[in-house]
Amino acid sequence: MRRCFIAGNWKMNKTVAESLALVRELRGAVSMVRDRVEVAIAPPFTALQAVAKALEDSNIGLAAQNCHFEGSGAFTGEVAAPMLKEVGCSWVILGHSERRQYFGETDEGVNKRIGAVVKAGMLPIVCVGETLAEREGGKTLEVVTRQVKGCLAGYSAVQGEKFVLAYEPVWAIGTGKTATSRQAQEVHAHIRMLLKEQWGAGVADQVRIQYGGSVKADNAAELLGMPDIDGALVGGASLKVADFAAIVKAKG
Ligand code: 13P
Repeated sequence: MRRCFIAGNWKMNKTVAESLALVRELRGAVSMVRDRVEVAIAPPFTALQAVAKALEDSNIGLAAQNCHFEGSGAFTGEVAAPMLKEVGCSWVILGHSERRQYFGETDEGVNKRIGAVVKAGMLPIVCVGETLAEREGGKTLEVVTRQVKGCLAGYSAVQGEKFVLAYEPVWAIGTGKTATSRQAQEVHAHIRMLLKEQWGAGVADQVRIQYGGSVKADNAAELLGMPDIDGALVGGASLKVADFAAIVKAKG
């Protein structure tokens, strides 16, 4: 059985003080799902260390929103995976569409970053998803196939079984337009088929695939009720305690 995994991507929001205030409330608000649902949050880099301390003895894990593919070096402005591990991260979100769209990240770059994350002893949340033009052009499955294959190339089944994928249709991010549960399920099932091709049925069956894109308290239960949707990567709604807690509890 795949354990439901709800992660909050805070994006470029919250100072350290604001992050700590949010975490203080969040700890209590999601504590009751301890065994049933895995929960993680991804604050901005500057808040990671303080938030890690504030999460001690809670059921909330810590994720970073990106990292560089080298372990150290002359890469001004970048953050390396071992640095994230040191401050308490267990997960790193990679290949988010905002990174792809605004910062030129590619499947090849994500592929290299996965290696750095794994080497540092963390796990990746690998994001894929089509733009509106690609969906309207009937290219959704083709695009997602290219992204999944490009990002995961070269990783073994043993490494991959603990990876998390996130299907985030770009047109649904921050727009209030959610994919219908059927649209999302179709892509999730396709991703699982690709995982099966690469790693075999046993591993494909274990890998969790989150949905992301305008997940809210009122649509989470339906999305999470689909057979291949194993969690959510939540943006805007993860910044509000009541909304995030409601999503965490949506699986029932
Ligand atoms: P929203 O939930 O704000 O649409 O963002 C989704 C997302 O990008 C999560 O990574």
